[in-house]
Amino acid sequence: MKTVGVFDSGVGGLSVLRALLAELPGVRFIYVADSAYAPYGERTVAEITERSERITAWLRQTHHIDALVVACNTATALAIDSLRDAHPDLPIVGVEPALKPAAATSRTRHIGVLATRGTLNSKRFARLRAQLENTASSPVHFACQPCDGLADAIERGDLQAQQALCERYVHALRDEAPGDMDTVVLGCTHYPFAAYMLTQLLGAGVALVDTGEAVARRTRDVLGVTATMDANTTPPVLLSTGDPAALAVAAQRWLGLQIRAEKLAT
Ligand code: DGL
Repeated sequence: MKTVGVFDSGVGGLSVLRALLAELPGVRFIYVADSAYAPYGERTVAEITERSERITAWLRQTHHIDALVVACNTATALAIDSLRDAHPDLPIVGVEPALKPAAATSRTRHIGVLATRGTLNSKRFARLRAQLENTASSPVHFACQPCDGLADAIERGDLQAQQALCERYVHALRDEAPGDMDTVVLGCTHYPFAAYMLTQLLGAGVALVDTGEAVARRTRDVLGVTATMDANTTPPVLLSTGDPAALAVAAQRWLGLQIRAEKLAT
């Protein structure tokens, strides 16, 4: 049986784990929520690189993982190159804001992007955006909004703060978008858990796009696992550097998993 490590700054990567479990039921997933160090969105490159490296090293030593999924846009934007350099023999799948799928489907060509400050300020994001703005056959306009505090509010399960922040950032996005926005990219893996609030504010006509399913398909390709190799569903192992009970509650609420989470000291 293949074993895959998955990590995020906290509970947000559960939105990716949900897609991975649906796509790869026969794979054993070890999920690490780095909640003691969340949020990553406003941390430095050095801090995020150090945390990503520590978690990856631990997953390799302890669980001998066959592949790693960086279920965090911020860690992908800031640390995936150095992780790949340090682990050339380990297949590593990252998560990037879904600008390409959004550009492929948007009819109005006006797309909003909600993500952390770290992701939006990264060179990787600038490259991706420039590629699409400059080379798309019909031009596309991205309005990008950093959402300071939103991942943290989702992490803490604070619904009032989530509502206030979603209102603030949807208004800001509307002010910035010059045209009729029909698509909004959720460029942080925490945000799918606020999707219902965002849809209420944006209206049902605005499509929300995230990357969970694409990442799950890419992980299947990387592992070389075929559908016939999928056996029974294997429950994931859940670990948190912060409060394991909070991770277990989030996994039950959002994924319907009834599993204990363990404390990870790394
Ligand atoms: N969930 C992460 C992301 O996709 C990080 C959010 C945070 O910790 O700020 O960017």
